[in-house]
Amino acid sequence: MSNLRYTRAVLSGLVALSGVARTQVRSACTKCTCGKRGLSLAAAARQQVAFKETPVPCSGVLQAVADQHYLRVKFGDGTSAQLPYVWLRDNCQCPDCYSQEALGRKFIIADLDVNIHPTSVQEIEDGLELMWSDGHSSKFSGQWLKERAFTPAARAHQRNRYALKRVPWGADHRLREFDYSELKTNPKTLLEWLLTMEREGSAMLKNAPDRDVAGPEMIEHIAYVKPSHYGPHSPVINRPNTNNVAFTNAKLGMHNDLPQYEHMPGIIFIHCVKQHLGSGGESVVSDGLFGAEILRRNHPEAFEALTSTDIYFWDKGHANYPWEMDKFHKISKFPVLTLNSNKEVTRIAVNHAIRDSHMDASPEKVKKFYEALKLYNDILYDNAINFKMDEGDIMTLDNVRCLHGREGYEAFSARHIESSYLDWDEARCRRRRLQEELGVQ
Ligand code: OGA
Ligand code: ZN
Ligand code: ZN
Repeated sequence: MSNLRYTRAVLSGLVALSGVARTQVRSACTKCTCGKRGLSLAAAARQQVAFKETPVPCSGVLQAVADQHYLRVKFGDGTSAQLPYVWLRDNCQCPDCYSQEALGRKFIIADLDVNIHPTSVQEIEDGLELMWSDGHSSKFSGQWLKERAFTPAARAHQRNRYALKRVPWGADHRLREFDYSELKTNPKTLLEWLLTMEREGSAMLKNAPDRDVAGPEMIEHIAYVKPSHYGPHSPVINRPNTNNVAFTNAKLGMHNDLPQYEHMPGIIFIHCVKQHLGSGGESVVSDGLFGAEILRRNHPEAFEALTSTDIYFWDKGHANYPWEMDKFHKISKFPVLTLNSNKEVTRIAVNHAIRDSHMDASPEKVKKFYEALKLYNDILYDNAINFKMDEGDIMTLDNVRCLHGREGYEAFSARHIESSYLDWDEARCRRRRLQEELGVQ
């Protein structure tokens, strides 16, 4: 870094200039012989900007120039940033404004002046110090600024830390396999599984112990079980006096689990404790994201119907087992395909068993909705994978992305599946910590 040069911009009279429209002009540095060109405020504003060059110790900041709304920073690697003053002030790192222990803001938003601007910008040991028009001062390290610099690279990095990019898959997909014990004992394998789940939304754990609680035990190893009114895990067997059609021997069309919850479980663990011998009980899985993108591309009207028609899901019943909620009555409401502000599909909710007959829609819209729902269902089946789980398999699926179903089987079969859930918040939290601990990005 020693060959990097630093340009210090000392601004005066900026307060008086606040609100004045200014054009930037480039002017040669007049304070030294570097020949470097720095940004000055418009000549029309008669702003005095002095540039001085000194070696940068370790700030990584080459140049900092303040204009009307932004601090424009050039970093040592050639990247530049446009940093809004209101954001800089809000994110002051001083002990009065921010707790370095709690990693949380103490600064109260009511005290934030959205029109704030600096009266001076100074080079310091490892970054910049700003004096503000309200008399406060803030220091920021070059590294801190660079990581949050609103640049495509900084934004992409944080987006990835938040959630990995999902890779849609079709009928040629094969579930990646992980050994149950290996996942429990080797943090690198656990990280691999977490990365796979975020990217592919699906994986198979092999050789789980022959225990009803093998799924929840793995979830507890990762984070916490997400319970439902069926308890921390549910035996999927043909139950008498059942409280859910999944707990019968009937065929289950492809679905997501528990959309009767406004906060649907993120990851489902489907543990095959006992498989049905002979034909019956086979699984089908499809990537709902892949299907949704086909629908968006080829049938925009149907896509629109599934993203804009709110559906009720409901579940009313009573406990079959002591660990289930005595009496429950859930109702949720959202569209089959939920989009975020970037129009990405972030939640898929299909479950015909518990889709309510009540509809909060005008009758004219209903047929179009059903057409779209059937079209989406056809696309899902056209691009699905089919297999039969072995005993000791735990299929893990992104439950707000991938759909699963099963063939019906004989009523007196010993078939026994156990399902349990892990939330995405906990899975991603574990992934971030493991990435940090193992030094893997
Ligand atoms: C369920 C379910 C899968 C199976 O219980 O919701 O999808 O193979 N079970 O029984
Ligand atoms: Zn502060
Ligand atoms: Zn299910």
